[in-house]
Order: sequence, then C-alpha cells, then structure tokens
Amino acid sequence: MRTAVLISGRGSNLKSLIAASADPTFPAEIVLVVSNVETAGGLQIARDAGIATKIIPHKPFPSREAFDAEIDRALRDASVQLVCEAGFMRIHSAWFAKQWEGRILNIHPSLLPKFPGVRVHEQVLAAGETESGATVHFLTAELDSGPIVAQRKVPVLPGDTPETLAARVLAVEHELYPEAVRMVVEGIAAPS
Ligand code: GRF
Repeated sequence: MRTAVLISGRGSNLKSLIAASADPTFPAEIVLVVSNVETAGGLQIARDAGIATKIIPHKPFPSREAFDAEIDRALRDASVQLVCEAGFMRIHSAWFAKQWEGRILNIHPSLLPKFPGVRVHEQVLAAGETESGATVHFLTAELDSGPIVAQRKVPVLPGDTPETLAARVLAVEHELYPEAVRMVVEGIAAPS
C-alpha cells in the first residue's frame, strides 16, 4: 500500500515506520513524506532513506482548506493510498478528513479518549493518573477522536516528569504505529 507520512518535527515515529517497512512482509511502502515545517528533523530521516519529501508551509495559505487542498494534491500526485500522521501539528479541515476517511491514521501520546490535544503528559501527571500510553486512531474531523485502531499502556511512575513520561510513551509508540498500520492494511482494523 502506497503510504505517505505527514510530519512537523523530529520524525522518530517516521523512523520506526521506515524501519518496519524494510521487512518484506510489511504491507505498506512509504513513498512520500510531507512536512509543513522546513526544518523538521524527519525530513533528513526521509532523505537518508531515499524517500521523496515535500515541504508545504501552511503560512502562505489563506485558509485551512486551501492548505489542505495542497496537501491533498501532493498525496494524489504520488498515488498515495494510506496516510500516517506522525507529529503533524496542524488541524485539518472537515473537507480533508472526509477526502481521506478510513485511509488516514494519527498517533497520539495518551490513552484516548483521555487527554486529547496538546501538553498531554503534563495533563496526565496533573490528573494523578497511574497509567498512560499511546493510541493509533483513524483521523476524523474532530481532533483526536476517530475510531481507535490500537493502544498500548505504560505505567506512570513516582517522580515522573513530563519528559520521562513522554520518553516511556514514545518507546511504545514506535512499536505500536507499525503494528497498527499492518492491522489496517491487512483489514484487521477498519473504521466502523
Ligand atoms: C509523538 O509523541 C506523537 O504521538 C505526537 O507527536 C509526537 C511526534 O514525535 N503526535 P516524532 O516526531 O514522531 O518523534
């Protein structure tokens, strides 16, 4: 399945997806990486892996829809069939979510539906949670609330800071995202 990854930053989840796709049994091939941030570290990870990259800064576009239309064009030009968002820090228009419904995934560093949005680990610690984790879900027009594909838990430990908790969650994200992609492409998980 021809797959694109959308990023805005460091790209460690992108890196784990690229590593997974080196396995000949992995059913997705990453053919394009799109970033709205020119300096995103993930762009170099993609280049090093020989994957095509496209930078589409959001600022010049007059609206969310116009920006999304450009992303949509890039995805279609590359005959993309599946989209994985991995640290892509823009909220999409309802139009874009509808275009890619059932074919676009996102990873979020909490046990959704708990703690959507940003500053997740701070919120988890402030709430006194004893566990947290990561979620891969189908992207819908409503932020961080589409059908869940897979989740993995981690403990919250005494003395955790947002940074230590983030690192523990990130380690499971790197296992979870490739597994979730496999489940979706192989038809084990579908949006209901
Ligand atoms: C991850 O924690 C992901 O769950 C969230 O943004 C972060 C991206 O990290 N949506 P990276 O760029 O994949 O390293």
